[in-house]
Amino acid sequence: MNERTERIFKAAEYVKSKLQGREPVVGIVLGSGLGKLAERIEDPITIPYREIPGFPVSTAIGHKGNFIIGVLGGKTVIAMQGRIHYYEGYPMDLVTLPIRVMKVLGIKNLFVSNAAGGINFDFRVGDLMIIRDHINMLPNPLVGPNMEEFGPRFPDMTHPYDKALIAKAKELATEMGLELKEGVYIAGTGPSYETPAEWHFFRTIGADAVGMSTVPEVIVARHSEIPVFGMSVITNAAQKEFAADYKNDGDDVVKAADAAADKMTELFSRLIESI
Ligand code: HPA
Repeated sequence: MNERTERIFKAAEYVKSKLQGREPVVGIVLGSGLGKLAERIEDPITIPYREIPGFPVSTAIGHKGNFIIGVLGGKTVIAMQGRIHYYEGYPMDLVTLPIRVMKVLGIKNLFVSNAAGGINFDFRVGDLMIIRDHINMLPNPLVGPNMEEFGPRFPDMTHPYDKALIAKAKELATEMGLELKEGVYIAGTGPSYETPAEWHFFRTIGADAVGMSTVPEVIVARHSEIPVFGMSVITNAAQKEFAADYKNDGDDVVKAADAAADKMTELFSRLIESI
């Protein structure tokens, strides 16, 4: 076993030693301001990332840095309360380490969420967008020697987000009287927000929302053929003209995500129940 693989299995072994025999079947990644879903998890075990050998620590605003294991929607889940971003300076191996650890722990589905800027002019602050597809502007996390234990050298990426989960989410949203948007998420490195020309460029190439995360996690999950459901919370809306006093601000992003977190939590919980 090489060093990269050893790091994953060692971290997984530590997490497993804390689980009192529980076996999580769904992994959940909570984006900026969305950590409060974790409060809905029943009978929780909290494992801070800083206790896990070889684990990176999340430093981003609105990200706590814990695994929370417990019951949501009647199933045992493992949630990441805070994710690791490339812009924090971590290499892709570490950005995606938690996903591989969850894979080793046996998850059968991965739910990812994020706060995102709306590129599509139909989107408003507080909207929930089902991620139908993505465009990756970050380095690909699978670059380097292939980890054969996890998947093939050239993994298929024509089904990044699970169609059956998307269909079920729409059905549940109708029942709940919840309006959902749907679209393409584009991920850049950040940490600077986009210029007006970049917003225009991203719209032109087919993106509906922009952020700085999620896609590396999805690529690594799909490498191992884990079905993925993804959701963006729109925290700032695209402007036709950016007014002189317009400003994109991280604290506003976290506040907007926090305000929409209950809707997303309810949907995730019902969707997990339906699997
Ligand atoms: N751009 C990039 N990432 C983001 C944004 C944005 O406007 N809002 C929340 N995350």
